[in-house]
Amino acid sequence: MKSLVTGGAGFIGSHLVDALVAAGDQVVVLDDLSTGRRENLAQVADVIEFIEGDVADRATVDRAVAGCDRVFHQAAVASVPATVERPVATHHVNLGGALMVLEAARAAGVKRVVFASSAAVYGDTGAEACVETAAPNPQSPYAVEKLAAETYMRVWADLYGLPTASLRYFNVFGPRQDPSSPYSGVISIFVDRLRRGLVPTIFGDGEQTRDFVFVADVVRANLAAGALDAPAGLVCNIGRGETTTLKQLYGHLAALLGGPPAPHFGPARAGDIRDSKARVDRAFEALGWRAQVPVADGLRALVEAVQGT
Ligand code: NAD
Ligand code: UD1
Repeated sequence: MKSLVTGGAGFIGSHLVDALVAAGDQVVVLDDLSTGRRENLAQVADVIEFIEGDVADRATVDRAVAGCDRVFHQAAVASVPATVERPVATHHVNLGGALMVLEAARAAGVKRVVFASSAAVYGDTGAEACVETAAPNPQSPYAVEKLAAETYMRVWADLYGLPTASLRYFNVFGPRQDPSSPYSGVISIFVDRLRRGLVPTIFGDGEQTRDFVFVADVVRANLAAGALDAPAGLVCNIGRGETTTLKQLYGHLAALLGGPPAPHFGPARAGDIRDSKARVDRAFEALGWRAQVPVADGLRALVEAVQGT
């Protein structure tokens, strides 16, 4: 089996590449290294093909997809605030890139496209768990881009018979998540600051909740979706189905890494949703997938990985 992983030098993509290589796939990575890093692929560099380029450029995607059976489309500007600040640029990558991947995959006779969508498409649902049958309510350019790309995925399945699956990841965490930008995932930022003896800042009151899911579980979900025969056009939540407040998260990490009992607090972030929690029934029914790594175990594994223990 030959697989293309767009965004394969990034956090989630590189773990997926590792798993595909371990399963015996021939793997091509397309990445522009805007947030991804070649070091994330050092352990597989000899056995994969790496193409540095833009996922929104048709000729580049055509070259990357040639001969592939499956495409795992992970490439995107993954930060919600980055899309709030630069919506035109991120539209080009996040929506234009998805369309380019679909068109190139269709032309190349790819058997399935798996798309990294996001829980952000739901918007604020209060304490209610997000269920795939609910009407989406995007509240940021990022969420609009992901929802529109999902819609393309479904329509390309219906109209052109290209099997697609959109996985709505909740908040993914684990080793290799890059903490270097203020827009990075909150867990990577908190770990980085605590390790450097700095005090993290919670934006807002710290009572906002997220459904954090460990990266190894997300990789398993991609493998299950990539192996699927039916249904085409699947949309499916990938989360644990339980939430952690930002204050609780800080408490876990301060206990693991040492840190003051309380973080700093700053103003809430524009475009932020308040609560996010997955209903996970469809993932189990459609993919036979359920998250296996409890948040506390994932945080411990992450801390061990960054400390090199
Ligand atoms: P990441 O930034 O580590 O990975 C994204 C990768 O895409 C990077 O390697 C980057 O260099 C590459 N990329 C960006 N623009 C590109 C372009 N124009 N052409 C080619 N490559 C490009 O982020 P991640 O957390 O690994 O996210 C992977 C995917 O999962 C993204 O689509 C993101 O939106 C989605 N997602 C992530 C989360 C999360 O919690 N991390 C949650 C929901 C969805
Ligand atoms: C994250 C993902 C996004 C994904 C979505 C799905 C990243 C960078 N973003 O967005 O791709 O689609 O989950 O649910 O991986 N916060 C702080 N202090 C900080 C940083 C963040 O308090 O230093 C807060 C934020 O204000 C927010 C929460 O932590 O309330 C989570 O933020 P973040 O990790 O950026 O993730 P999301 O915006 O939920």
